[in-house]
Amino acid sequence: MANVLVTGGAGYIGSHAVKALHAAGHQVTVYDNFSAGHREAARFAHSVVDGDIHDTDRLRRALRDHACESVMHFAAWLSVGESVRDPAGYYRNNVLGALAVLDAMVAEQVHSLVFSSTAAVFGNPVETPITEDHPKQPINSYGETKLAIERALPHYERAYGVRAVVLRYFNASGADPDGELGEDHSPELHLIPRAIDAALGRDTFQIFGEDYETPDGTCLRDYIHVTDLADAHILAMDSLRSGGQSATYNLGNGRPTSVREIVDAVARVTGTPVPLTVGPRREGDPAVLFASSDRIRRALGWKPRYEDVDTIVRTAWAWRKDRPSGYRTPQGTAR
Ligand code: UFG
Repeated sequence: MANVLVTGGAGYIGSHAVKALHAAGHQVTVYDNFSAGHREAARFAHSVVDGDIHDTDRLRRALRDHACESVMHFAAWLSVGESVRDPAGYYRNNVLGALAVLDAMVAEQVHSLVFSSTAAVFGNPVETPITEDHPKQPINSYGETKLAIERALPHYERAYGVRAVVLRYFNASGADPDGELGEDHSPELHLIPRAIDAALGRDTFQIFGEDYETPDGTCLRDYIHVTDLADAHILAMDSLRSGGQSATYNLGNGRPTSVREIVDAVARVTGTPVPLTVGPRREGDPAVLFASSDRIRRALGWKPRYEDVDTIVRTAWAWRKDRPSGYRTPQGTAR
């Protein structure tokens, strides 16, 4: 079993990965500054360090104190729209922050990294499904910053021996099927929680554009359950621990699902129609994004357990119904 440092382990995807690591018998140290994460979400960690990823000394101490041999790096900013308005923040957090994590790893001779990347590295797809080798032409600074680190990693491997598995998430969604963890962003910008909130009468909901060249005019995306993402992280880390090579994998279900289809699923699952308006397109939204995940299926034997859209929505709904205000510790609560 491994001692693992998980940056951003109190966030949405990170916390689900921590739970999966814990269930697999690993000892997890969550390293988080709680600017966006929730203390309660780190409940499956063996220990929690309040720290910022820019603080290399603190990172080094955490790696040393907990004898970590692997790192999963989730801590990053993740909103496409915000990245257009504040590229400086995205370069600072996602590039400088990740480099600080790598510096600490190199200094402490920790040579195994699972790195969170995104479908945003591809930009507007030129062909679908999107394979790992699809051209990378990000159309926002979020995608650029993740791609910058992807491109740095082979150099870090050659010079310092850090091996890395890069996981490019498509649309992370759903919640822990046990109801212990879920999605709690503020503001919440993602489709499924927003549509659920509208069904619950808590918020208004708008479809961003119905004039795309898709069967029903709304955007097609590839929704992947957060627990399936978490499973992929364990497989990725295990492959590195058993001497496997560095690799990059796309993670999606490979099923294009439209915004309208998600809204219909929310209505089915909640038993309530989703009140909505149709608005203009959102800037920066590609019409169609869906993955080929054949490579990780073949190489690591990854297989999604919750690929059905209604199942994904059902877990998200169960969490939001149970936790109308999300976690008890609000986002940004440092202690
Ligand atoms: N949408 C709406 N109304 C809403 C929210 C979303 O119609 O209130 C639509 C969007 O326009 C999009 C789809 O629902 O067509 C999904 O939107 P999300 O905001 O849930 O997710 P994105 O596809 O924009 O973002 C995801 C990941 C990002 C990644 C991006 C790549 O969350 O990390 O894909 O484009 F960068």
